[in-house]
Amino acid sequence: MSKNIVVLPGDGIGTEIIEQAVRVLDVVNEQHNLNISTQTFAFGGASYDLSGEPLTEETLSACRAADAILLGSIGGPKYDKAPRDKRPERGLLRLRSELELFSNLRPAMLFPELADASSLKPELVAGLDMMILRELTGGIYFGGPRGIETRDGQQVGFNTMVYGEDEIRRIAQSGFEIAMQRNKRLCSVDKANVLEVSELWREVVIDVSKDYPDVELSHMYVDNAAMQLVREPKQFDVIVTSNLFGDILSDAAAMLTGSIGMLPSASLDANGKGMYEPVHGSAPDIAGTGKANPLATILSLSMLLRYTLNEASAADQIDNAVAAVIKNGIRCADIAGSGANETVVNTAQMGDAVVAQLQGT
Ligand code: IPM
Ligand code: MG
Repeated sequence: MSKNIVVLPGDGIGTEIIEQAVRVLDVVNEQHNLNISTQTFAFGGASYDLSGEPLTEETLSACRAADAILLGSIGGPKYDKAPRDKRPERGLLRLRSELELFSNLRPAMLFPELADASSLKPELVAGLDMMILRELTGGIYFGGPRGIETRDGQQVGFNTMVYGEDEIRRIAQSGFEIAMQRNKRLCSVDKANVLEVSELWREVVIDVSKDYPDVELSHMYVDNAAMQLVREPKQFDVIVTSNLFGDILSDAAAMLTGSIGMLPSASLDANGKGMYEPVHGSAPDIAGTGKANPLATILSLSMLLRYTLNEASAADQIDNAVAAVIKNGIRCADIAGSGANETVVNTAQMGDAVVAQLQGT
């Protein structure tokens, strides 16, 4: 049966990195007879430029109909002055919400050769392999009331952090399921010493834990979690947390690995359908310079093949090709160290290296 992937390059370096991931897809598609077709749509700022909307109805319905979505990155300073509801970020949030992609997997793992690229001492990060599971369709990102209004003669901005029991339960379940497939340790991160919404979060997570007696559950306040991530990151296996806390902690965790340019992510619905994207943003400052590292997007493609299309052997092949390229000393600027045997390459050359590895040439 044929499979359809919607490709959304987005803005900034998004188009450059997606181009390389699509080349990789073309190779494995042919080698493994995957019968995958792709359809590309403008999204985010690129879509706003074309139609005045960051997410058009056409793109949304194509995404609904697709088997999976591969996204580059969105946003840029060019859109700071666009009306708030037309900004690229709003398109992304709407897409996550419309497709109910509530479960956001953000792994932070370190390629052994890149331990020196981390801002932490190599011994603190060597062998790091953790997963941040971020709730993606609720919390303060979507809660109401929200807005900016005038009260007593001054402007007031407000948002609402709100979680229903069911929303907490389903993300907690995802957390326990993922922990079961890993080292069976789950740390739920909240701010239950201050926020009622976190009090409920903690209660529900504890309730869900009764169905997973093999998983060791712990709780941590978010401020402490931020500190522990940079103090002793290897203490974590799986972290489950709310939308806002996960946004912040996942950037910190990504940096531990030396380069945010290496990290893929998956956003899944209840049926395993998903949108896959690099953890990093659209990096407008380096767009068009050839400095962008396409590996996070190539690894996102691998996650897509593994988790939504169940094509583990094609995914393994991509992961192995990336690992081999790193082992051979091929580096984009963001992961280049002072290694004597390193070759610094641009975005397209990194794509070339992965493709050559896949083709065994
Ligand atoms: C992320 C990004 C987004 C978020 C932005 C671009 C809306 O920071 O995916 O982490 O805050 O969720
Ligand atoms: Mg973020």
